[in-house]
Amino acid sequence: MSQPNQQRMIGNRLCKNRVTMAPTVKFNAGEDGQVTGFFVEHYALRAKHGCGLICVEATAVSPEGRLSPDQLGLWNDEQIEGHRRIAEACHRYGALVIPQIHYGGLGTHPQCGPLTSPSAVIWNSWGQEKMAQELTVPEIHRIQKCFVDAAVRAKSAGYDGVQLHGCHSYLINDFASEINRRTDEYGGSTENRARFGCEIIAGIREACGEDFIISVRTSGCDPTIEESIGVADCYVRAGCDFLQVSNGIHDISALPHDERLPYNRIAALGVAFHDHFKGIVPVSLVNGIRTPEQVHYLLENDLIDMVDLACGLLADPAFTEAILNGTPYVRCCSCKRCGWGPGHSHVCPALMKRNDEQWVWNVPKLTRSDS
Ligand SMILES: Cc1cc2nc3c(=O)[nH]c(=O)nc-3n(C[C@H](O)[C@H](O)[C@H](O)COP(=O)(O)O)c2cc1C
Repeated sequence: MSQPNQQRMIGNRLCKNRVTMAPTVKFNAGEDGQVTGFFVEHYALRAKHGCGLICVEATAVSPEGRLSPDQLGLWNDEQIEGHRRIAEACHRYGALVIPQIHYGGLGTHPQCGPLTSPSAVIWNSWGQEKMAQELTVPEIHRIQKCFVDAAVRAKSAGYDGVQLHGCHSYLINDFASEINRRTDEYGGSTENRARFGCEIIAGIREACGEDFIISVRTSGCDPTIEESIGVADCYVRAGCDFLQVSNGIHDISALPHDERLPYNRIAALGVAFHDHFKGIVPVSLVNGIRTPEQVHYLLENDLIDMVDLACGLLADPAFTEAILNGTPYVRCCSCKRCGWGPGHSHVCPALMKRNDEQWVWNVPKLTRSDS
């Protein structure tokens, strides 16, 4: 019977357990996209408390594709040193660590660059209806190179690999989805819509070698599960070693789901992918996992390879220990105040407070001595 503390191969690297920290942006980097001590502490703490794989938040591959002016970056060599500090801090505790590399596309922030997309579609961009600019083929190749260059920087920073942000309506997802109406080699058939991501994967594999994890956080239902599995098949053939499944552009609220199950319909997309990719590549799921019991259920019933946790690990950096050892934990109450956008703190209010322009641990709210 599978247990959370069992090891798992991800690509050519051994992950010490089945718990992943999902990427969660903090928007704390400043215009230069540099890592600060805050980021290093934030990730090191989750690694210290046992998380097997840490996915560092959405990290911009190019300044004009950012989703916020203070998003973390890997678009120039000066940013490598800061990332080295994150990688070293997490490795000290035996965790694998990969940054999520990202280009906004339809999620680009208006202060950072133009709204870009595979096709000229009307899109609600940060509260305003806008026409997205259709990318030309030379522009597509330039952005693909930004992804490959960012992965090369990630490798020289000492990361174990990268995760491509291929869900949540950002550019790789835009290409794979139904909003792509191109008639050239980047649109139309499943293979053509996957081509943008596949060429990035192949470029990273060539530049970074076989030993480097290439994960895709991919969309599970755009517009159907079968279609998205078809896209992911292409990613795997191109060299992706790990599929981390989340939601995409298509609204899945009406997708049939048995509400008695201890996981929601977004997590169920990961279960469907696991069914298909069993024995081919490992698959993770995410969304709504708030208790150790849910993780045990998913693993003991062989429904998934890895479980990704976002809010659960924001609410309590030691949530992994609760899963592995049954220790007490602070449960995320899904208040959504950690979310991003106006009025959000980007960090769980149970743990952090803003003090003299700095995020500090809000220790009095916690019983745990080392958090
Ligand atoms: C504060 C915050 C920041 C997030 N940042 C990212 C991100 O950088 N990249 C990404 O793919 N998803 C991001 N997400 C989505 C999460 O990774 C995750 O998919 C979502 O929160 C659902 O999982 P959960 O129920 O475990 O929180 C973010 C979510 C939150 C709440």
